[in-house]
Amino acid sequence: MALRRFDLDAGGDSFAFKPETEEKIAFWRGKYPADKQRSAVIPLLWLAQKDNNGWLSEPAMREVADRLEMPYIRVYEVATFYTMFRLQPVGKFHVQLCGTTPCQLRGAEGLKEVCTREIGKPMHVTDDQRLSWEEVECLGACVNAPMVQINDDYFEDLTPEILSGILSCLRNGAAARPGPQVARVNSAPEGGTPVLTDASLYDGSKSRLRELPNLPGAPASAPAPAPAPAAKIEPEVPKAPAADDLKRINGVGPKFEAMLLEMGVRTFAQIAAWSPETVDTVEARFGFKDRIDREKWVAQARMLADGRFDEHDLIFGRGKD
Ligand code: FES
Repeated sequence: MALRRFDLDAGGDSFAFKPETEEKIAFWRGKYPADKQRSAVIPLLWLAQKDNNGWLSEPAMREVADRLEMPYIRVYEVATFYTMFRLQPVGKFHVQLCGTTPCQLRGAEGLKEVCTREIGKPMHVTDDQRLSWEEVECLGACVNAPMVQINDDYFEDLTPEILSGILSCLRNGAAARPGPQVARVNSAPEGGTPVLTDASLYDGSKSRLRELPNLPGAPASAPAPAPAPAAKIEPEVPKAPAADDLKRINGVGPKFEAMLLEMGVRTFAQIAAWSPETVDTVEARFGFKDRIDREKWVAQARMLADGRFDEHDLIFGRGKD
């Protein structure tokens, strides 16, 4: 990972969110409880970056830290770790060019040459302040490789010529159309779907019931039914023992009983045989700790498995039905 430092000179001494951003800040902060407000650091940094012409100055990071009552260093750590945060000024249109393998194999090198020729070195801002670019890792649109992200939009299925045209539009204030630059919808195949195009596959006609040839009254010409296969002798499957009323165990209510049955625990004898490790596993599944020991489920089950119901009820109390 590249070392990322922020540009202290370009950032000035102060930063303020735009008034209209306050509502968005409140929205993001509202997603987290009062004692977990720091969790909003990434969305707030993102909003600060948008209000600061597409990059994060050091005063902008401090403003976020002050609002979330975080040490400055914690916010710097987040901002310098994620490459979505830019730490030096960028152009009005900042091009993030994906250089990861699928885009590389599909021609990202040619796009890089266009950016270098028409904009300059990575992170250089053109004199008219309109363009800058950098290479980034996969942006998750590999199916439409090669691609770039410009501000919030993806431009996909690019060729050097198409990218050059897009940059020229942006330089001259004209609109550029984002999305795939070939005849396809999103990530669908170019030129439309080439397979599974038969409408009858979807209208239900292929799944209609057919007339069976061996039904009584079937036409004489119907082919003879295939001989029935020889009877197969299935091995006898041992039946599961009848389930005990696990709610007799004091502490096991209908909900826990249902969960036990779901786990395949049906009898007092099974619970009576639980090892400490099994108890831990069951507690982890139920989401509590030490309760099985505290309520002595295993000892209770042992007594109930032996048929000592009265003794059980006297010592532990009868579980609720
Ligand atoms: S490799 Fe370029 S978008 Fe995934």
